[in-house]
This record gives sequence, structure tokens and C-alpha cells, in this order.
Amino acid sequence: MTIDIAFQPPAGAAGIATPFAPPLPAPVAGDAMEAHLRALVDAAPAATLLFDAGQRVHYANPAARVLARLCGPDQPDRPLAVVGDWHPDLLNSGALHLCSLHGSWSGEVILGVGRGQHKILLVHLSRIGPELFGMTVRDITQDSVRESELHARNAELEVAYAKLQGAQEQVMQSEKLASIGQLAAGVAHEINNPIGYVNSNLSTLQRYISQLFSAIQSYEAALAEGAGAAATEAIRQKLDLDFLVGDVPQLLSESREGIDRVCKIVRDLKDFARKERSEDWVKSDLHRGLDSTLNIIWNELKYKAQIVKTFGELPLVECLPSELNQVFMNVLMNAGQAIKDQGIITVTTSVAGDRVRIDIGDDGEGIPADVLPRVFDPFYTTKPVGSGTGLGLAISYGIVSKHHGTIDISSTPGHGTLLRIELPIAQPR
Ligand SMILES: Nc1ncnc2c1ncn2[C@@H]1O[C@H](COP(=O)(O)OP(=O)(O)O)[C@@H](O)[C@H]1O
Ligand SMILES: [Mg+2]
Repeated sequence: MTIDIAFQPPAGAAGIATPFAPPLPAPVAGDAMEAHLRALVDAAPAATLLFDAGQRVHYANPAARVLARLCGPDQPDRPLAVVGDWHPDLLNSGALHLCSLHGSWSGEVILGVGRGQHKILLVHLSRIGPELFGMTVRDITQDSVRESELHARNAELEVAYAKLQGAQEQVMQSEKLASIGQLAAGVAHEINNPIGYVNSNLSTLQRYISQLFSAIQSYEAALAEGAGAAATEAIRQKLDLDFLVGDVPQLLSESREGIDRVCKIVRDLKDFARKERSEDWVKSDLHRGLDSTLNIIWNELKYKAQIVKTFGELPLVECLPSELNQVFMNVLMNAGQAIKDQGIITVTTSVAGDRVRIDIGDDGEGIPADVLPRVFDPFYTTKPVGSGTGLGLAISYGIVSKHHGTIDISSTPGHGTLLRIELPIAQPR
């Protein structure tokens, strides 16, 4: 479509002949003007009628005659003497009354035109003189058909969009579960280790307790026999009570700590796997989220990376915590995977105005300049089949955007990569 915009001379420049604004011709008046106006109405695409208070038609342009054929296709030769000859329902008395009162009236009129068909017309009435009215009619049946088609398409699109959102949620959830699946061996190892020593401590304690019971029995017997200090000392030595008294509390506290670790990993896993709903926004401690994520993936990182945490003072951040944990996990896992042998992963948090900033850096292999623009693309991966889905950063990008935040990546090949996540402390209302 092209639009021609006529040059408008600046105010005060009227009458000045410039190359852009030729002088206006002398105004047309009188009979010539009447003839021109008549030609204009005759050529107008809108049906135009002039009629009196008795609805007798004094003028109808060619478009009005075409309209008459459309409104009554079964009686092409009827006389077009009054407005009702076009169609009995074209002009209703209410509309005419309102036009007489207010000077004009506009509205949509739907006419049955036979054979189960109907026409939708846009009608405009205007009072031209005390007893004279003008009517213009535009057939908008096609517009209206197009409009309802558009509505139908729009509704279809909305349904498709809702389905797509559902699918996206499913992809996110299954990616999350897939990463837990991938991590399962490591998590099992992390749980197995404390469970192993708690188990061995318990069997030692069992032995200690039976030793203690037999000590109690021996003391009781010695007391009954009225034995002296030497006898009780002998029992003490025999059952190694001094060692036992020292070791029992240590075993217990070690076991408590082991059980705590297991509970923490299980809780973190549960938090992580939880399917968050859109109403689950809470004010949350991001350091806790980072710690519990590190806890879950610890086994993946501990052999090759040293984690350097520099946590600033962060306020509680309004977020979907388990979704953000997924972002942290994706980014931390990438950092770990980028380190081939031994390296450092830094996790730094700070406040920047009304946002919090989480920087996750690694000194791994880095990203070549031609790869960098693609890392957020869904399914883009440089990792071998089976070890990368290429969804980690795409999903992270989606989650951070949902939080009205930003995620940026910078990298120097051979030196490392930095992911910067910024999130508003409070979500915009
Ligand atoms: N810290 C990083 N260091 C080096 N490359 C990275 C890093 N983070 C992401 N990448 C690159 O971005 C790609 C896409 O990452 P991601 O979306 O997490 O998918 P995946 O890890 O499954 O490949 C990776 O394959 C990798 O090439
Ligand atoms: Mg990844």
C-alpha cells in the first residue's frame, strides 16, 4: 500500500508560489458548482438517497440503484418511489425520528434479502432541510464476514497459544526432571556416603551399648557382693569405659550431621523437582537457592572445580524459587562442563539499584565468537549427543524473562565465561 501525503505549506505561506505548492485555481460557484457536486454524488460508491418526510425519494444515485437490486434480487423491476421500495426495513421510524431531533443518525442495519441471505449495511441519515433528509448506505457485509473470520482466526490462535504455553511448561518440567535423572547417580552417591557412615556408626553404637549394659550388670553384681574400689576399677578397664564415654558423643554427633546432610539433599531435591504454579511467587532468599542447587550438583563439580562464593547482602527477591534454581543449575552445570581438568567457578551476588545481580563465572574453555550469539537458541548445543539437549540456556532465558530480568553472557575463548543474571527485587505490578 502506498500513501501519498500532500505537501502542506507552512502557516502564513498561503499564496506564496513555491515549487511545491502551485497557486489554487479560482473558486467554482453557482450552477457550475451544483453540476460538479451532482457529478460527485453520482459517482460516489456509497448509495445516496434524498427523500422527504413522507419518505418519497427525490434523488437516488447509481450506487443506490445497485443497492436496490442487492436488497430485492427477486423483484428487479419494482418502482423505486419511496425508501421502503429499497427494502421495507431499510429505514425504521425510530432512526428517522432521532435524525429529525438531532440532525443526524448512524447505525448498522441487517436486512434479510431472501434465499436465506442477509446484508449488513452501514446507514447514515442527515436532516438537510425542514422536510428533507439525506441517506448514505454502505454495504459492509463483506467487512463483517471478514471481521468474524478474523475473530474466529483470533480465537483459534488463542487456543493454539494456550496449547503452546502448556507444551512449553511440559518441556521445562521434563528438562528439569531429565537433569535430575542425569544427576541421579551423583545425588545417590552424595546420599550414600553419609548413610554409609551413619550405618557403620550405628553398628558401633550397638556394640558400645551392649558393653555398657554388661558394665551396669557387672557393677550391680560387684555392689551386691560388697566389692571394693579395686574390683570396680577392674570392670572399668576390662570394658574400656573411658574410651567408650569419649567416643559415643562423637559418633552420635557425626551421625546427626550425616542424617542432616541426607535430609538437606532430599529437601533440596524435592524443592527442585517441584512444579511451580504461576501463583507461587514468593519473596525468597536467593543465597539459599544457590546453596541448595550447589548441594544437588555438588558431585558433578567437586572433582574439577573449586567454588568461590562471594555473597553480598541481598534482600528477599520476589520470584518463583524452584524455577530460578533451575536457572542456577543450568548455568552452573555449563560452567562445570566447560572446565576440562581443574578450574574455578565463581558465584558472586550483589545489589544494583532495584535489581539483584548474580554473576556465575568459570575459567573453562570459553565460547568462540561465532557460537556466542546462538547459545540461547533452543536445541543449540556443542556437546556430544546424549550429554547436551541445548535447552538449558533457552529455558533459563525464558525463566529470567518471566521474572522481568535479564541474562547476559560474555566469554573469552580459552579463558572463561561469565553469565550475568539481573532480577528485579519486586515484580512490576
Ligand atoms: N560456561 C560455558 N562455557 C562454555 N560454553 C558454554 C557455557 N555455557 C553455555 N555454553 C555453550 O552454550 C551451549 C548451549 O548451552 P545449553 O543451552 O545449556 O545447552 P547444553 O548445555 O545442553 O549444550 C553449550 O552447548 C555450549 O556450547
Ligand atoms: Mg547446559
